[in-house]
Amino acid sequence: TDGVLVDRYGRVARDLRVSLTDKCNLRCTYCMPAEGLPWLAGPELLTDEEIVRLVRVAVERLGVTEVRFTGGEPLIRPGLVGIVTAVAALQPRPRVSLTTNGIGLDRLAPALRAAGLDRVNVSLDTLDPGRFDRLTRRPRLDAVLAGLAGAKAAGLSPVKINSVLMRGVNEDEAPALLRFALDHDYQLRIIEQMPLDAQHGWDRSTMVTAEEILASLRTAFDLSADPAERGAAPAETWLVDGGPARVGVIASVTRPFCGDCDRTRLTADGQVRACLFATEESDLRAALRGGADDEELARRWRTAMWGKRAGHGIDDPTFLQPTRPMSAIGG
Ligand code: GTP
Ligand code: 5AD
Ligand code: SF4
Repeated sequence: TDGVLVDRYGRVARDLRVSLTDKCNLRCTYCMPAEGLPWLAGPELLTDEEIVRLVRVAVERLGVTEVRFTGGEPLIRPGLVGIVTAVAALQPRPRVSLTTNGIGLDRLAPALRAAGLDRVNVSLDTLDPGRFDRLTRRPRLDAVLAGLAGAKAAGLSPVKINSVLMRGVNEDEAPALLRFALDHDYQLRIIEQMPLDAQHGWDRSTMVTAEEILASLRTAFDLSADPAERGAAPAETWLVDGGPARVGVIASVTRPFCGDCDRTRLTADGQVRACLFATEESDLRAALRGGADDEELARRWRTAMWGKRAGHGIDDPTFLQPTRPMSAIGG
């Protein structure tokens, strides 16, 4: 390699999150307005070949060992299976995963598995059809449930569920979501909402906190310390009723985990972001289209990561939400 992606605080990025599109077929209220957003134009998007080239540089030259595809909704990218095939064929082979809303996953899971996808995380915030329709503004709960089942049937393992809790919407649903996950052998993680919505409607005082999430789960389950090592994972996990089943809580706001961060990000339009909340991006697309060789791309990527800030700074009085919404950054 040409040296790893290390920042001035000594953190090493081994985990690359790649957004494949900023578009989505749902309209979750905590993410997008009903009418959608001004999408990236076709020529702005990296081509499949450009994505694979940049991931190859990260894997071959920069020590990246984990590649996660996100969006928007990555399953709506036409070239997804080909991209996964090419990335899983890189040497040394990275682990390959996907974060999706699950729509269409029942149909696509076998091909993705065959292409080399290792595992998948599916967003599901409620099991109630009426709530689902209001929350996502689309009547697709059955499609998501079918996607989860299809992922498991195709051998993608583990299948994780991501649930964001919102006050007055689904804050009472943690125990029901955990019961559902235990019954189907999915791993549930409950997430504190972060200030990343396009409408800038996030409010700390209405956010459901990890403390509340845990108290709610404990009304129905016994949670005990998990002896497994957490590493750089956003999720802190507990054993459920003595284990081996686990539940995770992703408490980005009240229990930040930035000190152990091992992530670097590539947007669908080819910008490297050192952090979800970064205020700066490094334009690898311009470099690549301008004829930069692999060594030059790797050098720019290292420079971008060196500037990574210590943490997200949500608690700082000067905190500014990133101008790009979550859907354009890639979770
Ligand atoms: P695993 O490898 O399965 O643990 O995936 P993950 O939990 O890292 O990724 P996933 O895409 O499922 O994201 C789950 C939640 O964690 C989402 O709300 C993400 O926005 C959040 N998340 C992922 N990475 C980061 C991060 O670096 N910082 C913060 N604050 N949140 C993150
Ligand atoms: N805060 C926390 N998590 C979010 N997600 C989307 N928006 C937010 C937010 N504002 C979750 C989605 C998905 C994952 C990629 O991030 O539910 O599971
Ligand atoms: Fe890493 Fe930034 Fe996420 Fe903190 S907020 S864990 S530094 S990407």
